[in-house]
Amino acid sequence: MQIIKKIAVFFVLFLLVFSCAISDQSKSYKNGVVVSAHYLASEVGNEILQKGGNAFDAAVAVQFALAVVYPRAGNIAGGGFALIRTSKGEYNSLDFREVAPRAAFEQMYCDREGNVNSDWSQKGHLAVGVPGTVDGMVKLHEKYGSMKWEALLVPAIKLARNGVVLSELEANKLNDYRDQISAQNKNKSNNPYVRERPFREGDTLSNLALARSLLAIKTKGRNGFYEGETANLIVSEMEKYGGIINAKDLQDYQAIWRKPLIGEYREHKIVSMPPPSSGGIALLQLLKGAEMHKMNEWSFGSFEHIHLMVELERRVYADRATWLGDPDFYPIPVDRLVDGEYLENRFATIEMDEKSNSQDVKAGSVAVIESFETTHFSIADQEGNAVAITTTLNGNYGSKVVVEGGGFFLNNEMDDFSCKPGVPNQFGLVGGEANAIKPKKRMLSSMTPTIVEKNGTLFMVLGSPGGSTIITSVFQNIINRIDFEMNPQQSVDAPRVHSQWLPDEVYAESKALSPEVKGKLEEVGHVIKIQSKIGMMANIFVSESGAYIGIADTERHADSRVAGY
Ligand code: GLY
Repeated sequence: MQIIKKIAVFFVLFLLVFSCAISDQSKSYKNGVVVSAHYLASEVGNEILQKGGNAFDAAVAVQFALAVVYPRAGNIAGGGFALIRTSKGEYNSLDFREVAPRAAFEQMYCDREGNVNSDWSQKGHLAVGVPGTVDGMVKLHEKYGSMKWEALLVPAIKLARNGVVLSELEANKLNDYRDQISAQNKNKSNNPYVRERPFREGDTLSNLALARSLLAIKTKGRNGFYEGETANLIVSEMEKYGGIINAKDLQDYQAIWRKPLIGEYREHKIVSMPPPSSGGIALLQLLKGAEMHKMNEWSFGSFEHIHLMVELERRVYADRATWLGDPDFYPIPVDRLVDGEYLENRFATIEMDEKSNSQDVKAGSVAVIESFETTHFSIADQEGNAVAITTTLNGNYGSKVVVEGGGFFLNNEMDDFSCKPGVPNQFGLVGGEANAIKPKKRMLSSMTPTIVEKNGTLFMVLGSPGGSTIITSVFQNIINRIDFEMNPQQSVDAPRVHSQWLPDEVYAESKALSPEVKGKLEEVGHVIKIQSKIGMMANIFVSESGAYIGIADTERHADSRVAGY
């Protein structure tokens, strides 16, 4: 079985390499490495490491740089999660997820007939959650940083002032969203993201208002965003255009340290994000199912591999929809959901030659998918510290609102709540009471920053954007490496498949399924939809000699980059 599996993996990857002309970008670095969705942000992080900063200093600098160079997802007015491993092998996680404003209420996106109006939850001022990023970065730096806070803001301020030369990808993305951004910003003067003519590759985009907002954060820390000038600008936006965030919402915001979720997978320690992200629980459930059904005995890309993944995902996303939300508002049975006995029963109904129906798969007793709305970066340093951060505005450019005078996009994270039981959000995800809107509550996330250890040493640091596909992208990278024994580059390049209980469909990148496997999956009833891209990994792997191998997902996003020394 092992030999057949190896031949099959070799064959699939051989085809992949020649059909996509994949360039092996993997380089190893002895001292430190940064992998992010934008080359300028990766360079900023690497410079901080080379100046003697640790991984956490670099993470703060990268987060702020991404707000300038990658405005569709990088942010100062969004939120995210950081998973931390110190050089001593200690883990921690930071939840800087947005919260609902105090004036929010359960039915706020329903019209008079009780139907959800997704325009209200996805676009404009009413869609905005109270931002968490700035407080998150301040807390990360206070606990783990070694350099002066001010120094970590300098690169982002320079980029905003001097301007960023737009890549083809960035210019195209801004043009794709031009009408939506324009519609949400009545006052277009001094708005750098709304121009008369389309953006072109090579244009320089400077943003002096954003430079000022970053300067306030540099000099006043948390108070430079949640109080004073920037806070006033946000509140006045809300008052002018029908939003509900007020000054007290901003003052009250607090990022929260949380105990990470820790599990095992075939002699590897898996550490990931607890609620209010669903990522860690779902990932541990999927891995348990893969272990139970002996994923490692199937070959990559085979009918069994894909069918088993889809059947596991159906059950895991059904649990997500029912049980998961903000743990400070809803009693989430975390231990039970990742309990071996529970999962044995949950996955025992999987038949290897028969598809189950999502309608029959209810939660256990206890869409259209876009890929890159969020962003992930991974950093490791000379001392052995590592950090995985997934951060987001939710949709591309969030609510599309740029704060007048502030120069930054506001998130549209409120759409990650379940606006009404059973009604899907922008990722096709459904939910219920656990994820219902309540004042000051955090909306459920799929972000899955994850760290894997082998024999007590760092093995992988990984994560991805992609809404609901984040969890399955991370899952596939882990099994690619551990079960299918792919090297780091192969594990990122390998084509991906995604399914999520509802809709009862299987999304596959075009090279993921051979005609024979696709035919067999359809024969047992799976509905296959081809998707251009699923996920965008930003991973670090550690070689046996202890060197860092950074892998950016350049096949799926050309601007992604590894920088290290
Ligand atoms: N906004 C995407 C997520 O948190 O899952």
